[in-house]
Amino acid sequence: MTSPAPDGPRHVAIIMDGNGRWARERGLPRLRGHEAGAESISAALRACRDLGIRYLTLYAFSVENWVRPKAEVAGLMALLRRFLRAREEELHANRTRLRAIGRLDDLPAPARGELQRVMDSTAHFTDRHLVLALSYGGRAEIADAARRIAERVKAGALDPAAVDEAAVAANLYAPDIPDPDLMIRTSGEVRLSNFLLWQLSYAEFHFTPTLWPDFREADLAAAVAEYRRRHRRFGDIG
Ligand code: IPE
Ligand code: IPE
Ligand code: MG
Repeated sequence: MTSPAPDGPRHVAIIMDGNGRWARERGLPRLRGHEAGAESISAALRACRDLGIRYLTLYAFSVENWVRPKAEVAGLMALLRRFLRAREEELHANRTRLRAIGRLDDLPAPARGELQRVMDSTAHFTDRHLVLALSYGGRAEIADAARRIAERVKAGALDPAAVDEAAVAANLYAPDIPDPDLMIRTSGEVRLSNFLLWQLSYAEFHFTPTLWPDFREADLAAAVAEYRRRHRRFGDIG
């Protein structure tokens, strides 16, 4: 195991895209692509551990993905349950805390229950964090934060003049998690698809044509190596 690099990234966020195309290329049903994609999550977790990356956020299901055919949605929810059950031991062995962001109440009860169970059983870990974005939308998250802020103002608990960036950030789904430094999207698509709109404001982006089920440790290591060659200015000169 290599030691954590002082220069990060501390937090990597991934849009795991291309499962359907991976399956189609092989003449397989789309769900087989999603199953193969679940294997890539283990590879990403191993790479994060070896590269000293403490936070990994994965876009697993968007708030827009509910429009997909019923059978695909049901298959994905069943896969989520199987994934959680199969990986729980690995999360414990790697002292990784599981978190979730999104409109989690939208999830079917069995998936929601399994998620809560594994989040609870890993809640004491602080070394590493795996964050699953489920029924997640960046605009939905900001709208939900705005609603919570409005409620606090209405209750007299918050002065409208005190609503600043920190107040918005404090009302997002996981306010204690630092913003991602690096965002990776697989499958050649070059768009955000409503992912972490607030948190990615100063992230570095890495787009790769590799389909998610083919993504392995070396791919993550290459993205991180490229990240480390970049010069982040945050508006300053130099
Ligand atoms: C990403 O793969 C997984 C989810 C969105 C759940 P896709 O299912 O979007 O795969 P493509 O884009 O159709 O290849
Ligand atoms: C984004 O992928 C969502 C996830 C990876 C979970 P999509 O495949 O849904 O995105 P679009 O529809 O191509 O923008
Ligand atoms: Mg896609």
